[in-house]
Amino acid sequence: MSETPPSAVPGAQVPPGLDRILRDPGFCRHSTGRVSVVEWESGSGWSEPRIEPYDKLQMDPATLGLHYGQAVFEGMKAFRGADGSVSLFRAADHGRRLGRSAARLAMAEMPVELFTRACTELVAADERWVPAGYGQSLYLRPLLLATEAEMGLRPSRSYRCVFLAYPADPCFGSDFRPLAVTAATETVRAVRGGTGESKCAGNYAASLLTRTEAQAAGYDEALWLDGLERRWVEELSTMNVFFVWRGEDGPRLTTPPCDGTIVRGITRDSLLTLADDLGLPASEEPTSIDAVRDGIRSGGLAEMFASGTAGVVVAVGRLGTGGQDLIVGDGKEGPVTERLRTALLDVQHARTPDTHGWLLPVTGNAGAATIEGEGRHA
Ligand code: COI
Repeated sequence: MSETPPSAVPGAQVPPGLDRILRDPGFCRHSTGRVSVVEWESGSGWSEPRIEPYDKLQMDPATLGLHYGQAVFEGMKAFRGADGSVSLFRAADHGRRLGRSAARLAMAEMPVELFTRACTELVAADERWVPAGYGQSLYLRPLLLATEAEMGLRPSRSYRCVFLAYPADPCFGSDFRPLAVTAATETVRAVRGGTGESKCAGNYAASLLTRTEAQAAGYDEALWLDGLERRWVEELSTMNVFFVWRGEDGPRLTTPPCDGTIVRGITRDSLLTLADDLGLPASEEPTSIDAVRDGIRSGGLAEMFASGTAGVVVAVGRLGTGGQDLIVGDGKEGPVTERLRTALLDVQHARTPDTHGWLLPVTGNAGAATIEGEGRHA
């Protein structure tokens, strides 16, 4: 990495064409040109965060992280509020989840305070890169990688965490077009006791073959079933899943429980909380693919949707399962899906009060880099 000290990093100037990029950023097509870096060495511990220009990583080909997969990451967002201010969403929760992912892979666990400071300083430096559009954000991708060069199988004695930043639309598009998903039949993503809950690179690698095959067959995503019975719905490769069941007293929301095989989605958790706020009954319940199939056929399953940081909340309109394609409801986004997404985005863009303390303010509405430390966040 470059040794450029923070003071020499281009900071305040706005690159030509930034307005055009922010109007149509796509998903992480344009880096802000800056990263935050935090390192850990056995013996000396964690470094302070430093901001550097975006650059290639220099690595020994024998680096442990490349061979044995000690690599975990987060996906998180900073939003521009209605008054122009910028806040990170549930930054400490992302820091805690990175710590749990790292612990599972015998990697160094970064203190949450250090994690949020690295994020806050980067977002403050990149303040001009935070788009203002509803649903748009500055997407942060903290990547923690083992950096020691060693061929024997053992945990690395050094790590680097690089925080990348990109202006972003939701990853499946800002129009929230309903997704088509197909249940995986030949492969599994995770089993209990494995690394399924960890946001480790290997879990995403394990999903790629089936996801690519699903996409070649005309679907957007693969829907993973449990690894033992191949019966219980788990999640998509990039998002958790929710079901909206028709009930006598109104709609009822369920999502598969976090039993070690699915990612503990922070969006998922936020939606369960918001559902409660909205008076929508919601619970974590094991749900079989047969129940989903029957529910679609009988009409008892009114809506299905996916949730995640990158994709936000997006309806599932078509489900491939048992050799058939089933249309969920009328195949369009349903009212509960829309209502929950709006409730979430309204909090993220500070259009409604942040009653759960999820926003960590980074800059005031003047765009000044007034960094506030760990605030009211959960
Ligand atoms: C996110 O939603 O931020 C993720 O990390 C999923 C990623 C594969 C796009």
